[in-house]
Order: sequence, then C-alpha cells, then structure tokens
Amino acid sequence: MSRQRTLLLCFLAPFTCAFTQALFLASEYSALNSSVGGRLFRGTPLVLPCVPSNVTHAGNCSQVQTEYLDEGFRTNTPGAYVVPQWETCQATGAQCLLDYTNTLDLTPVTPPRECLLGSIPPYFIDVQSEDDVRAAFYFSKRLQVPLVIKNTGHDYKGRSSAPHSLALWTHNLKNISYEPDFVPEGCSTPSAGVTLGAGVQWQDAYDFAESQNITLVGGSDKTVGAAGGWLQGGGHGMLSNTMGLGVDRALQFKVVTPDGQYRVANACQNQDLFFALRGGGGGTFGVVLESTVLASPRVTLQVVVVTFDSTTDTTITRELWNTMTANALQWAEDGWGGIATTNVAIYINPILGPAEAAKSMNPLIEFGQKLQSDQVEGAQLISTSFESWGTFFNWFAAENVAITGVSLALVSRLIPKANFATAESQTELVEGLLNTTVITPRIIILVTAPSSYPGDNTTSVTEAWRSSLYHVTAVSSWNWNATKEDKKTAYTQASASIDNLRRITPDAAYQNEADVYEPNHEISFWGSNYQQLLEIKNKYDPYHLLDCWNCVGWKPSAPQFSCYL
Ligand SMILES: Cc1cc2nc3c(=O)[nH]c(=O)nc-3n(C[C@H](O)[C@H](O)[C@H](O)COP(=O)(O)OP(=O)(O)OC[C@H]3O[C@@H](n4cnc5c(N)ncnc54)[C@H](O)[C@@H]3O)c2cc1C
Ligand SMILES: *[C@@H]1O[C@H](CO)[C@@H](O)[C@H](O)[C@H]1NC(C)=O
Ligand SMILES: *[C@@H]1O[C@H](CO)[C@@H](O)[C@H](O)[C@H]1NC(C)=O
Ligand SMILES: *[C@@H]1O[C@H](CO)[C@@H](O)[C@H](O)[C@H]1NC(C)=O
Ligand SMILES: *[C@@H]1O[C@H](CO)[C@@H](O)[C@H](O)[C@H]1NC(C)=O
Ligand SMILES: *[C@@H]1O[C@H](CO)[C@@H](O)[C@H](O)[C@H]1NC(C)=O
Ligand SMILES: *[C@@H]1O[C@H](CO)[C@@H](O)[C@H](O)[C@H]1NC(C)=O
Ligand SMILES: *[C@@H]1O[C@H](CO)[C@@H](O)[C@H](O)[C@H]1NC(C)=O
Ligand SMILES: *[C@@H]1O[C@H](CO)[C@@H](O)[C@H](O)[C@H]1NC(C)=O
Repeated sequence: MSRQRTLLLCFLAPFTCAFTQALFLASEYSALNSSVGGRLFRGTPLVLPCVPSNVTHAGNCSQVQTEYLDEGFRTNTPGAYVVPQWETCQATGAQCLLDYTNTLDLTPVTPPRECLLGSIPPYFIDVQSEDDVRAAFYFSKRLQVPLVIKNTGHDYKGRSSAPHSLALWTHNLKNISYEPDFVPEGCSTPSAGVTLGAGVQWQDAYDFAESQNITLVGGSDKTVGAAGGWLQGGGHGMLSNTMGLGVDRALQFKVVTPDGQYRVANACQNQDLFFALRGGGGGTFGVVLESTVLASPRVTLQVVVVTFDSTTDTTITRELWNTMTANALQWAEDGWGGIATTNVAIYINPILGPAEAAKSMNPLIEFGQKLQSDQVEGAQLISTSFESWGTFFNWFAAENVAITGVSLALVSRLIPKANFATAESQTELVEGLLNTTVITPRIIILVTAPSSYPGDNTTSVTEAWRSSLYHVTAVSSWNWNATKEDKKTAYTQASASIDNLRRITPDAAYQNEADVYEPNHEISFWGSNYQQLLEIKNKYDPYHLLDCWNCVGWKPSAPQFSCYL
C-alpha cells in the first residue's frame, strides 16, 4: 500500500490504520534489509537475556551480569551504551537496566518491572559501505524515521541513541592503515597519515601505532572511538598541549552527506565540510566512513605521578591543587599534559629529557616527597620515563578505568590561562574547584588543552580551547530505581556544582563532555565559529536527517528528543 493511501486510511479508520501502518512499515524494513545486504537487525536491551518472563531471547545472562560494568562488552553490544540512561527513556521511565551495585540481582527486570527498549533504536544497520548509508538516508527522508549514528555509545549527551530511530552502527569498520607519505586527495603536500575506519577504537589504534613505531594523539580511554564523535567534536588527550587536539591533526574525511553523495573533505576539496567535521560535532553533517589523521614519530615520555589514599582530605587536595595552579603556566610552556583528581596527579612530557623534566616538575616532586615524609597514607611518588605513548597508555589504562554502566550527569568547564595569572586568581580557582567537589566529589582536571599548539583557524571548535589550560569535568550519578525527580535533581546538582567555575570563567566548554543543559551552548562549544557552522549544516542537511541534542542547527521540538528531561 502506498504511503498516501495509508494516510487516507488513517484519517478514515484509525484502528485499521495502526494495523495497516505496521504492515506497511514491516514491508519497508524488509526492503531496506535487502538494500543493505541483509545487515538490518533489531535493537534489543543488553539485559534482555536476563528477563525471566521472556523465554524467546538468545544470549548469555551470566555474561551480562559479570560484564555489566565492562566498557569493552558494552561498546561491542549494539543495544548497550556506556552511560546507560541513554538506553532508557528518562521521560517515561521505560528501561531495562540492572542495579550497578549488584548486577546479580534480577529484581530490576523481574515482573512487575518490565524490560523495555526505552531510547535504544529498534533497528540497526551494520554499516559496511556508503551504499548502506545512502539507503538509510533515503529511508529516513521518505518515512520520517529519525536516524542516529552509533559508534561506541560513549556519548555523555545521548547523541547516539533515540527512541523509534534507525541506527547506523559503524562499529565493524575496523580498517587501519599507515602511509608515511599520505597525500590528501587533490592536494600535493604529503604528510605521514593513518587512515582509520569509523569503528576503530583507541586501544586498537594505539596498538597499531606501536607496531609502526609512530605516535597517534588520542584520548585517555581505551574504547572511545578514534574516528567518530571523539574526533569530530574536538578530541583531547594528554599529548594535546604540545601535539594538538584530534581536529588539529585531521588530514581527510570520507563522508556520506545527507544528499547521498560520498565526499572527500580535506584542505583541497569540500573545505567547508572539512572545517565543519573538524570540531562542529559528530552526527550533524554526514556519516564519516573513514578519517585520516596525522602520524608523528615515536616520542619518549617523562612521567611524574603523585598519589595518596584519601579522596576527602581537603587540606592535602588544596595543597596539591595549589602546587598545580601556581606552576600551571610554566608547566604548559614546558610541554606537560596530564590528568588529576582530588588525590592523583599524573603529568607526562614528550619534549623534555629526564634532567630537564625533573627540574621543571620539581615543585610537584617536592610535594610528593613531603607527603611521604609526613607519612600521608598511601603517598606515592613516581618519576620515570616510557619509551612511547603506547607503553605509557597501557600502564595508565590498567590502573585508571572509567566509570561504565552507571547513569550520570556530567558537567565541565574550560579554564583559561587568565585564571592562573596571579596568586589571587589561582586561589580563587582552587576555591572554585574545591567548592565543586562539595557537591560532585569525582572531579577530574584534564590538563589536555592545546595551549602550546597554535591553531590556524581551520578547525571549528571554540577558540577558547587555545587559551585554556584545563578542561574540568564532574559527575553526579543515580541507580536503576531513581525516579524522574531524582534524575532531574542529579542534573541540576551537577550543573550547580560547575556554576562555581562558570562564575569565574567565560562561556566555554568541550561539547563531547558537557552539561546536557549547557547554558548558551552555541557559544560555549563553538565560539565565533557557530554562524558558519550553521550555514554549512543548512547547506548539507536541509531536511534535518542528522539532528542531535544541542548539535549545530538541531530542532529541539523533534519527537526524537522526547526522552530527554
Ligand atoms: C569513559 C569515557 C572517557 C572519555 N575520554 C575522553 C577523552 O580522553 N578525550 C576526549 O576528547 N573525549 C573523551 N570522552 C568523550 C568522547 O569524546 C565522547 O563520548 C564522544 O562522543 C565519543 O565518540 P564515539 O564515536 O566513540 O561515541 P558514540 O556515542 O557512538 O558517538 C558520539 C557522537 O558522534 C557521532 N558519530 C559517531 N561516529 C560517527 C561517524 N562515523 N560519523 C558522524 N558522526 C559520528 C554520533 O552520532 C554521536 O553524535 C570520553 C567519554 C567516556 C564515556
Ligand atoms: C535481514 O535479512 C537477514 C538475511 O536475510 C536476516 O537474517 C535478518 O533477520 C533480517 N533482518 C530483519 C530485521 O528482519
Ligand atoms: C521478548 O523480547 C522480545 C525482544 O525484545 C520482544 O519482542 C517480545 O515481545 C518479548 N516477549 C515478552 C513475553 O516479553
Ligand atoms: C556465559 O557467560 C559466562 C560468564 O561470562 C561464561 O562463563 C559462560 O561460559 C557463558 N556461557 C555460554 C554458553 O557461552
Ligand atoms: C578494509 O580493507 C580491506 C583490505 O585492504 C579492503 O578489502 C576493504 O574494502 C576495506 N574495507 C573498507 C570498509 O574500507
Ligand atoms: C622508531 O622511531 C624513533 C623516532 O623516530 C627512531 O629513533 C627509531 O629508530 C625507530 N625505531 C625503529 C625500530 O624503527
Ligand atoms: C566558594 O564557596 C564560598 C562559600 O560558599 C564562596 O564564598 C565563594 O565565592 C565560592 N568561590 C567560588 C570561586 O565559587
Ligand atoms: C586566526 O583568526 C584570528 C582572529 O580572526 C586572527 O587574529 C589570527 O591571526 C588568525 N590566525 C591565523 C594563523 O590565521
Ligand atoms: C533502589 O534499589 C536499591 C537496590 O537495588 C535499594 O537498596 C533501594 O532501597 C532502592 N531505592 C528505592 C527508592 O526504592
């Protein structure tokens, strides 16, 4: 039955209509399945194998229970997300989650509790080629089914799921290749480049870089995607101070735009799209199938680490942060990047030798020595070197595993150099950071801004990144049985906690790790680039086939956003 005739029937006989429409859609999905080589499949909740009332499912409940909090397991599973409220419909409570504090307890999915899809896309395409993406755009435009792109499902703002949507699952695009003399198509200047399929994750990319004796600049988590949302939203890592953000190092994208064209975007063709994909955000301008990024020679890293046990002793935390902020400008100039919390500071440096590094980091080393001589519980000082980023990362990632499988509201702030300029501003900053920990103790100070890496105005992230030193994040979490009000409170509290830093900084935040309700988000994420990004969005996606939450040019009233609170 044609779409027009179905609509007429709906007007005349609503009940028969629902039935006819279901049949109509079933036949449309079946046709779509044929056009993507049989790679259309249904989305199901991760926990479905544990639902006692559902005997039809396949899958291994005991594996779900033991690996519920494992990021690798989640990112390999189409219907699972790293931050699981994005599997749920927060507005209606429809969900299929376990208690993250006791995943052996099946009460959360035992009647009267139901196991529902929530925001998980009911259909996924296992994307293999540009034709698959083309078919999805055609389907979405004709039938008004919203599209989402799901790569790893790491997104903190729910941009890779949506209720009643069709998902483009890029996970299996795993090709990686290295060309020492990569020339972007249509250009003439070669540079060393690694081409990453859209589904490559950082651990695989780092292992590959190790095998080729090169350095790739990437994030601090092993399962974040290397060529998808991380890259298009900016992409920071511990080497970014000296080696740039991900977007600074992008050489070329191959992307299917919503008109169905498969385009090459680089410095020599489709430059507007190239600009937009270098910071305008994932899920907005097209579906990237591969990204080529700059490869650098292997670097030797000098590493200094100070840790202690207590996460609640404000006095020691204050001393740690005083030391960090007092030296932050000098350390940035000396090439240090890293990560810190209330009781950990990890700094790495790819440009100094051991003696220069020890001299530069002397204030932190002395602080560590003092903690040890004061016999502060668990005080540790490590001063060492690693022969490559990959060897450092494996050491780091073994100890530092991100929270996975826990619903949470994340908030963040970029902290500009101005906040480190005087003793007064340093004190004010430390005060603001400590104030934030009162509400959200799990604060992370990421010393990952590209402060020594000059931008050349060819990327579209907010220019505030260049004049910043820190990117600070904080989280507020909830469990499976939180009410809608509890969730709202968590979002509000997290937002209020970062207000302590909003008060003393300009409107600037990293779009990939930002408050879901970031005020003035266009300016915060993109600064003066927003207008140009909006024009590019309207040019390539006039029918809004690729809208996402707080993304450039999105339409907030669309039904695909109905699960947000
Ligand atoms: C535990 C954890 C650690 C993190 N660590 C870091 C870090 O060190 N540095 C950092 O910068 N960020 C970090 N992030 C944030 C990360 O950059 C974002 O979560 C980002 O959205 C992940 O992109 P993805 O493609 O892996 O995830 P997804 O959730 O699958 O996708 C995210 C967004 O990108 C879009 N997208 C994905 N693939 C494509 C594609 N091929 N073409 C077009 N759009 C696409 C999606 O539609 C969605 O809008 C971290 C997040 C988590 C949860
Ligand atoms: C798509 O086709 C394949 C191969 O025929 C089939 O195995 C699969 O179940 C189909 N998907 C859906 C959603 O019907
Ligand atoms: C079992 O789960 C499948 C897949 O989600 C669903 O289609 C079916 O309706 C469920 N059956 C029952 C009895 O809940
Ligand atoms: C199910 O998962 C458990 C735990 O991971 C594992 O020990 C077991 O072998 C799996 N069973 C099957 C049939 O795969
Ligand atoms: C991945 O690489 C293989 C081998 O080079 C090639 O045949 C295949 O087409 C590539 N796949 C994609 C999606 O680029
Ligand atoms: C690896 O790269 C470094 C830095 O460029 C170089 O000094 C070294 O010789 C290379 N090692 C090998 C085995 O190629
Ligand atoms: C921190 O909190 C104190 C006490 O509430 C307040 O006076 C001060 O202004 C706050 N500082 C910042 C930077 O938010
Ligand atoms: C980038 O733009 C700014 C503001 O327009 C300008 O001051 C700066 O010189 C530009 N930088 C480069 C490298 O073009
Ligand atoms: C939520 O569930 C946990 C265990 O799963 C239980 O301890 C707690 O009391 C529950 N809270 C509410 C409000 O029901």
